[in-house]
Amino acid sequence: MRPNRFTLRRSPAAIAAVVLAALLATAAPTAQAAGATTPVAAAAAAPDIPLANVKAHLSQFSTIAANNGGNRAHGRPGYKASVDYVKAKLDAAGYTTTVQQFTSNGATGYNLIADWPGGDPNEVLMAGAHLDSVSSGAGINDNASGSAAVLETALAVSRAGYQPDKHLRFAWWGAEELGLVGSRFYVNNLPSAERSKLSGYLNFDMIGSPNAGYFVYDDDPVIEKTFKDYFAGLGVPTEIETEGDGRSDHAPFKSAGVPVGGLFTGAGYTKSAAQAQKWGGTAGQAFDRCYHSSCDNLGNINDTALDRNSDAAAHAIWTLSADSTGEPPADDVYSNPTRVAIPDAGSAVTSSIAVTGRTGNAPAALQVGVDIKHTWRGDLVIDLLAPDGTAYRLKNPSSGDSADNVVATYTVNASDKAANGEWKLRVQDVARYDTGYIDGWKLTF
Ligand code: TRP
Ligand code: ZN
Ligand code: CA
Repeated sequence: MRPNRFTLRRSPAAIAAVVLAALLATAAPTAQAAGATTPVAAAAAAPDIPLANVKAHLSQFSTIAANNGGNRAHGRPGYKASVDYVKAKLDAAGYTTTVQQFTSNGATGYNLIADWPGGDPNEVLMAGAHLDSVSSGAGINDNASGSAAVLETALAVSRAGYQPDKHLRFAWWGAEELGLVGSRFYVNNLPSAERSKLSGYLNFDMIGSPNAGYFVYDDDPVIEKTFKDYFAGLGVPTEIETEGDGRSDHAPFKSAGVPVGGLFTGAGYTKSAAQAQKWGGTAGQAFDRCYHSSCDNLGNINDTALDRNSDAAAHAIWTLSADSTGEPPADDVYSNPTRVAIPDAGSAVTSSIAVTGRTGNAPAALQVGVDIKHTWRGDLVIDLLAPDGTAYRLKNPSSGDSADNVVATYTVNASDKAANGEWKLRVQDVARYDTGYIDGWKLTF
């Protein structure tokens, strides 16, 4: 739960709707009426992932290997240097990063997990790549390629200020080359309640093979179709991945019942004549002749394959992070239930809600739930104050309105205000005799 001076409750939209309906039953708001439904924007299209950016990460991984004995293997300094490189980029982009330690083969291993703030915490889409190489080389196709594509997609999410319905989590796994050790450790240590929130895991391991094929994992049908549709749109034929299902980090997720999928351009298998016909390249030669060898260096990359697969990764992450249930995402509700007396024909009083831990601005349809008990509500003038002091009039006084109470939900377009900060409800009683108090209020982002 986020730190907050008052209660922060994440409630399912269904519950919010019931509460809203209950409020509306007794409400007589004079501002815009609360909408019964939350408008759900169509999923935004993924941006193009710049190949130059992906390749710049490959160069950095190559340099890291060169400076650390020629590899980025588990238990070697080049691995930890790779983690530090990726983590620094993510931290600067606004991610919440976690380094998870484990032990394998007598050496400390590291998984790097990066959460993008926001989204429905009950629907988490993950994408990952193994960050370790074998000890014989720098591991540029295997698997700086997948690591760089996932990193650049995560950075694109930040650049776009993308706020998907689902929560996004990116991962870089340690010790894949020792037998999927890091990803298995992560899955085994994830509480089952957290595991059941994973709506999918997308894996990117070897996506720039020099003699590339275009392989899509034959796993979850929705994920598989998302990738296939992307390549179909490019006019690039795909095949089902057959070079060993279970040979990469999606396997532990799949075993735990998480829907998985991924992309692959081939390792030690040989490209057939038919495959060379449809994809180009060299028949009778391995997809990656440098697989697990010292020549898996910067020259061991097919730029076109790396570019297409990076764009496909971003496309899938954008598309699959749109809500699949058709319901709006869970709302974040911040409330202050403290009673505040409103002096009769007196000065204005306020009640505050401190909002923290959000990214970006408040929504265009910020919901302000007001619960004021009063014996003549016509006496009351009510404003919402944004953190910068801007006042939004929610209700004007109207001397003839003798009804009790203001129990209403108002909608305010606060999309030009930062979400974080201290929001206030300001209430003034402007006419004598009848009195009341703020019985609580809430903000739904
Ligand atoms: N990193 C994997 C490995 O070393 C490469 C690999 C082989 C792979 N077959 C695969 C990755 C199938 C994904 C799917 O074994
Ligand atoms: Zn490998
Ligand atoms: Ca009064």
